[in-house]
Amino acid sequence: MQTINTIPDLRSHVTAYRRAGKTIALVPTMGALHAGHMTLVEQAARHAGAVIASIFVNPAQFGAGEDLDAYPRAPERDQAMLRDAGVSALWSPLPSTIYPAGFATSIHMTGPSEGYCGAARPGHFDGVALVVAKLFNQVQPDFAFFGEKDFQQLAVIRQMASDLDFAVHIIGVPIVRDADGLALSSRNVYLSAAQGTAALALPAAMHNAAQQIRSGGDVSEICARAIRDILAAGFEKVDYFSLVNAATLQPLEALSIAPARLLIAAKIGNTRLIDNVAI
Ligand code: PAF
Repeated sequence: MQTINTIPDLRSHVTAYRRAGKTIALVPTMGALHAGHMTLVEQAARHAGAVIASIFVNPAQFGAGEDLDAYPRAPERDQAMLRDAGVSALWSPLPSTIYPAGFATSIHMTGPSEGYCGAARPGHFDGVALVVAKLFNQVQPDFAFFGEKDFQQLAVIRQMASDLDFAVHIIGVPIVRDADGLALSSRNVYLSAAQGTAALALPAAMHNAAQQIRSGGDVSEICARAIRDILAAGFEKVDYFSLVNAATLQPLEALSIAPARLLIAAKIGNTRLIDNVAI
């Protein structure tokens, strides 16, 4: 596996893969890799002749007071995991390569970026869309893989790629959970042992609510009860616990024929956890 830090080097690798007749899959990450990321890599390897993983902790998607400086970083471990998984190249740019002095372009997302995490983290999805658009331009992949854990992010990226005519197939990969049901996230390392145990109330309440909704129960009553259960388990705040149309992310008051998704975000200590499930 080659580790690449500059755009000219990246371009020559991409050109070499293309000359060799290989399709390219991109797995964008912010590092601190876990089994969820490795599932993206596995899927990418099934789809394309060359897999390029990127690691870039993107300052543009962190708001003031968020965890940019504290965000977990494990570069050596990440490199070893990607190498062992057969990744062709690691794209690991410096912040000054992605946002050079004088950088003056922004992307403003509406539509699927509105509400939910978009409301709780103003500007977050604009920053995600900007860096992903840059990664698409830099790597020019045929396929790009994103986890369904960040379900709203996936919808925002699909919208941005379609609106800006990127010729890339965006592929969402199901959530990977630990043995207790907690969705894997790089931010889970922030949880103390007690918080880690209390956090299990979130997937438990989610799956319970999903089952009740599927059985035809009243959506607003079910969501209100689930929120009470999550708060009672030790979470400080539930940002949202909402049934939405899986394609548009518009809220649903009842289960309709369209595929639906239950989206949840809640804060335990200083850690904000998100999760979702298909209904
Ligand atoms: O999901 C992530 O890790 C990030 O938001 C992404 C897509 C790599 C953009 O920085």
